[in-house]
Amino acid sequence: MAENNIAQTEQKILSKEEKLELLKKKNQEALLGGGERRIESQHKKGKLTARERIALLVDEGTFEEIGKFVTHRSTDFGLDKEQYLGDGVVTGYGQVNGRLTYVYSQDFTVFGGSLSETHAEKICKIMDMAMKNGAPVVGLNDSGGARIQEGVVSLGGYADIFYRNTLASGVVPQISAVMGPCAGGAVYSPAITDFIFMVENTSYMFVTGPNVVKTVTQEEVTSEELGGASTHSTKSGVTHFTSANDAKCIEDVKKLLSYIPQNCEDDAPVYEYNLSDETRVSLNDIVPDNPNQPYDMRDVIDGIVDEGSFFEVHKNYAENIVVGFARLGGRSIGIVGNQPASLAGVLDIDASVKGARFVRFCDSFNVPLLVLEDVPGFLPGTDQEWNAIITNGAKLLYAFSEATVPRITVITRKAYGGAYDVMNSKHIGADMNYAWPTAEIAVMGAKGAAEIIFRKEIAESENPEEKLQEKVDDYTSKFANPYRAARRGFIDEVIVPENTRIKLIKAFKMLENKVDKLPKKKHGNIPL
Ligand code: HXC
Repeated sequence: MAENNIAQTEQKILSKEEKLELLKKKNQEALLGGGERRIESQHKKGKLTARERIALLVDEGTFEEIGKFVTHRSTDFGLDKEQYLGDGVVTGYGQVNGRLTYVYSQDFTVFGGSLSETHAEKICKIMDMAMKNGAPVVGLNDSGGARIQEGVVSLGGYADIFYRNTLASGVVPQISAVMGPCAGGAVYSPAITDFIFMVENTSYMFVTGPNVVKTVTQEEVTSEELGGASTHSTKSGVTHFTSANDAKCIEDVKKLLSYIPQNCEDDAPVYEYNLSDETRVSLNDIVPDNPNQPYDMRDVIDGIVDEGSFFEVHKNYAENIVVGFARLGGRSIGIVGNQPASLAGVLDIDASVKGARFVRFCDSFNVPLLVLEDVPGFLPGTDQEWNAIITNGAKLLYAFSEATVPRITVITRKAYGGAYDVMNSKHIGADMNYAWPTAEIAVMGAKGAAEIIFRKEIAESENPEEKLQEKVDDYTSKFANPYRAARRGFIDEVIVPENTRIKLIKAFKMLENKVDKLPKKKHGNIPL
């Protein structure tokens, strides 16, 4: 509101000193957002302010603000009487971990962080800059959605952002941290970006809120149940990460950025690493003797990658597949692993989509892929079939097939059926395929196979049970090993688990200048 006084001052003829004084006042005012009282209310909710969040994100003293004095244009519904410098969003650029990053941070203290025409213009401006200069965009979202008083120009502003999100997809990394409300169509900007972070208990995302839900479906649900961080990290998979508070969320955003390049023509940062003894004996004992006993694929990952470097994505969603970033000999890799500790590592709809999305991110941004395979096949059942496991499973197959980054697979145990093909097999373009001696590569499990191909013989035998076991043993001895595949060259080498790390370091080094081009096309048609 002080803006109106400033506006009057601006119109006078001022001396040089007065001009400097005016600038100082404006700068101070811009820092305040909606004012002291509202900053306090933000803190009372356990949230940081837009500027405090930026201060945590960027390296100290590196933030340069753009558009600090922008104000809204609308004059309807009293908006002519209330204006705030910056119009509810702080935008600019700075260094994150020493690298250029563009950031916008919505200021809930100004009209609930709602998106006006000018607020949207500010966001679009930095997105355009990020595209031209090849650097990531981090959006810190805390907003009541479209500025209701502005009507269609505000909706247009959202569409301008969605359009840019789409054009920037695969060009520069886009990261959304949802740190407050995010409702209505506003959710679609984060949805198009590469990764979403949510803060537990203070953020939510939904297309229609609890009141509309109650009117339309008669369901009674709280905001937290409908679209809180826990819901989206476990049930819908909308969010990739959740954090206990704002500060932890920003720490995690910075961590993620450390694994990825600035743009699609860049490589991820390389950390210094000198080879020494890379044998990891702990890997020898992870796969149990009993092929039906589960183990945690994260133990395999931890045994292979640089110590403590695994950064899991989508941790609590579709736990039968594990995806995340890590470093191997100082270099970033993306890992996709079946998880025998959850649903025996079977591939279902959610796991396929989760894996496919991650593979496509890594391929877009030159992050080599490591696949750790122990998969009994696709999950059978009406639920899966009726919800289109065919289409969804095909997404993972498609994503691997079109990926041109270096790709390596290690089969630790089961590689059965179509899942063998899908999980980065040699046939769909993997560069190197290793198997541990415990690997079993076959069309299906031995019992199921024997029951089908020897059905008659078993039925007609004097002792069907004995006959079945004889056939199961026969099938097992033929296929429950990696050597048939190795004989055909589908497996390049059967390796002792303890040597996996050094084998992978060498192989990824060998592949570091890989060039592989897809056929000329406008774009493919992934089965969505
Ligand atoms: C203008 C808004 C606003 C909005 C909040 N405010 N949302 N002003 N446009 N969309 C203002 C409030 O009037 C209030 O101003 C201040 O922000 C803080 O809001 P409170 O309600 O006091 O805060 P809180 O109790 O924390 O509740 C936050 C909230 C609630 C849950 C977000 O404000 C709310 O429900 N807002 C409306 C959400 C919504 O329906 N948005 C439109 C969605 S549709 P004062 O001056 O009193 O402090 C949409 C379409 C996008 O976004 C389509 C894109 C394709």
